[in-house]
Amino acid sequence: MSHATARLLAGTDAAHPDGQYTVVAKWFHWITLGLMLVALPTGFVIKYINPDPFATKLVFYAIHESAGLTVLFVSIARLAWRIANPPPPLPAHLPVAMRVGAQAVHGMLYAALILQPIFGFLATNAWGFPMQGATAYLGFIDIPAVVAKDETLARALQTTHTWIAYALVVLLVVHVGAAIWHHAIRRDGILMRML
Ligand code: HEM
Repeated sequence: MSHATARLLAGTDAAHPDGQYTVVAKWFHWITLGLMLVALPTGFVIKYINPDPFATKLVFYAIHESAGLTVLFVSIARLAWRIANPPPPLPAHLPVAMRVGAQAVHGMLYAALILQPIFGFLATNAWGFPMQGATAYLGFIDIPAVVAKDETLARALQTTHTWIAYALVVLLVVHVGAAIWHHAIRRDGILMRML
């Protein structure tokens, strides 16, 4: 087997001689998971939290919104970094359908990770409930509102936020399911590239 064929089969290149994602890409990936483990559950439970006393409910909003906005910042930095440092090539043993599927899911995940916080942020502005005071970013950074209070707009933005949340859950089930399938059934080393 030629050196080039061996590299292709292993999914390596000059920047990734071991076929692994770089340390920076791994950090971006696992930090995103940690933030999503906060943003998704808090988002889904807020509407069930008793508004009396409202201060308790506000804590949920504050945590949800700060974790969510951090997802936006991390995802923008992550995409910029990815453009400058492309990931390791997919190994040649992956059939075309799997490559297309993986790329489609990854692309939709990036889009959702960026759009979801933007819709959430704009919704809070339109509700007249910006990230200031009790819901300031990280508890102390007031973010100016970019949209004025407008209930009709708020309702539309909030509905979109809910639909993207459902889409994210579906994408994450497919993404995690595929990782487990690669590791436990196909046993092809794909999961190890990100560990
Ligand atoms: C990746 C980031 C985010 C995720 C995954 C996420 C997820 C969710 C989910 C699952 C819900 C519940 C939807 C429903 O059941 O109708 C929700 C609600 C909400 N989110 Fe987010 N969100 C994110 C970012 C943000 C940001 C950045 C803000 C604001 C700055 C925000 C503000 C809200 C608000 C105000 C609600 C409505 C809560 C309620 O009163 O019921 N979200 N979010």
